[in-house]
Amino acid sequence: MVQQEITVLGIETSCDETAAAIVRGARGSDGYATGTILGQQIYAQFDEHRAFGGVVPEIAARAHLDRLDTVIRHTLTDAGLRLDQLDGIAATAGPGLIGGVMVGVSTAKAMALVGKLPFIAVNHLEAHALTPRLGEDVPFPYLLLLISGGHCQLLIVEGVGRYRRLGTTIDDAVGEAFDKTAKLLGLGYPGGPAIERAALAGNPERYDLPRPMVGRPGCDFSFSGLKTAVRVIAMSLDPEDDKARADLAASFQQTVARTLASRVGQAISAFKDRYPEGRALVAAGGVAANSAIRGALTKIAIDSQLRLVVPPPKLCTDNGAMVAWAGLERLRLGLTDGFDFAARPRWPLDATAAPAAYAGVKA
Ligand code: KG4
Ligand code: ZN
Repeated sequence: MVQQEITVLGIETSCDETAAAIVRGARGSDGYATGTILGQQIYAQFDEHRAFGGVVPEIAARAHLDRLDTVIRHTLTDAGLRLDQLDGIAATAGPGLIGGVMVGVSTAKAMALVGKLPFIAVNHLEAHALTPRLGEDVPFPYLLLLISGGHCQLLIVEGVGRYRRLGTTIDDAVGEAFDKTAKLLGLGYPGGPAIERAALAGNPERYDLPRPMVGRPGCDFSFSGLKTAVRVIAMSLDPEDDKARADLAASFQQTVARTLASRVGQAISAFKDRYPEGRALVAAGGVAANSAIRGALTKIAIDSQLRLVVPPPKLCTDNGAMVAWAGLERLRLGLTDGFDFAARPRWPLDATAAPAAYAGVKA
């Protein structure tokens, strides 16, 4: 039987990437089918933010406003489609830097209004969480390690819109730790890829860094102690000593990879207790682009007889296809939103999860 298809435009503006993509997939929610990316564009605002060593929200919002219409126009051209050939318009509606999110949401609503199409407000974290299903058949439930610039969480993905949080960071997000470490080492912005490059020439065994939370019960994370330890060593280094900086980058990266793997080990037990039929461990978010982390997760997945699924690096960091795909998954379940939907700076995936009892917790 030939299944009917739907085509969704997705818009991403929650941080420093202005991105759009058009994804096509089967209409039916029964059975399973992956999607196809028909067109995509991404404008990374690295040049705008580099001088500041990190994302400046006001500059990001203005850059989204400047670029988004061109990015969308080129995406439609790539796909060879017009507005009236789409079935829905999705945009990241939170969580994120609110100025940028408002630019994306307003644009999506305007397009939906003009095209008489449904508008789908996408949770950015849900977009990361569902992305593995765009390219591969990954049935629910699965265990998800969501590692990005703003988040570090372990969740069970039970279905579209259905998440059970097992753990979160009690201080910094893991991507933040990469970005701050890169800044300390003078490696530039964005930090994650810079650390990964520098680490290639480094000895990961040279510095013995703390592995916060390892050995403690539960699935929460902490990175502030590691960050402080890196700072203390970095300040003692000769700025000309490239070898020492590479060694510190490699030691940091290996420590993060081992820490993540150890916390994932705890989460696998909790996942298997609840869902003995669960088969997949999924990693998503920008930090999942890191090959040392992928390596550590591969090992733990094999040891636990789970299949590891990590989207290709370009779909790990923020992009439009993940938003279009999450929009498509929601649209085919009839989950659309009204034009009164307001952009949200915070939007936890599991609203029932008790806030962790520490200061500075990311939702
Ligand atoms: O998912 P993402 O693009 O944006 C957020 O939703 O936050 O993640 C961005 C984060 C940044 O902290 C960046 O340094 C990190 O992902 N990142 C990496 C790598 N590529 C991006 N971290 C480690 N290794 C990488 N190769
Ligand atoms: Zn993201």
